[in-house]
Amino acid sequence: MNPENVVFEIQDHGPGIAPLDIDKIFDKFSRNGSKDNGALKGSGLGLSIVKSIAERHHGKVWAVSTLGKGSTFFLQVPITQIARTEKEIAS
Ligand SMILES: Nc1ncnc2c1ncn2[C@@H]1O[C@H](COP(=O)(O)OP(=O)(O)OP(=O)(O)O)[C@@H](O)[C@H]1O
Ligand SMILES: [Mg+2]
Repeated sequence: MNPENVVFEIQDHGPGIAPLDIDKIFDKFSRNGSKDNGALKGSGLGLSIVKSIAERHHGKVWAVSTLGKGSTFFLQVPITQIARTEKEIAS
């Protein structure tokens, strides 16, 4: 483990996400993570908000998944936050 970061790991046993879709699920209004979830309601914003918050903390998010088995989402953020200017905070 990198001592400069904390990594949260969240695992589910849901429908999984196809390899072609996995890079798109963090984009705004992306709702095509799995062919099986057409009936599920959602705005397509949740993961893009998570990504935005992670990046504003100089961190990152990613997922690994197997179709039909489930997904694991990772959220990594630095333990020590870098001082930011007022301008950066406002952007
Ligand atoms: N745990 C998961 N397992 C399988 N597919 C997922 C999972 N989480 C997200 N996805 C796929 O990625 C898409 C984008 O997810 P995201 O959380 O951004 O939006 P949403 O769940 O559709 O809506 P909401 O804004 O209400 O969270 C989902 O619509 C779904 O297709
Ligand atoms: Mg969601």
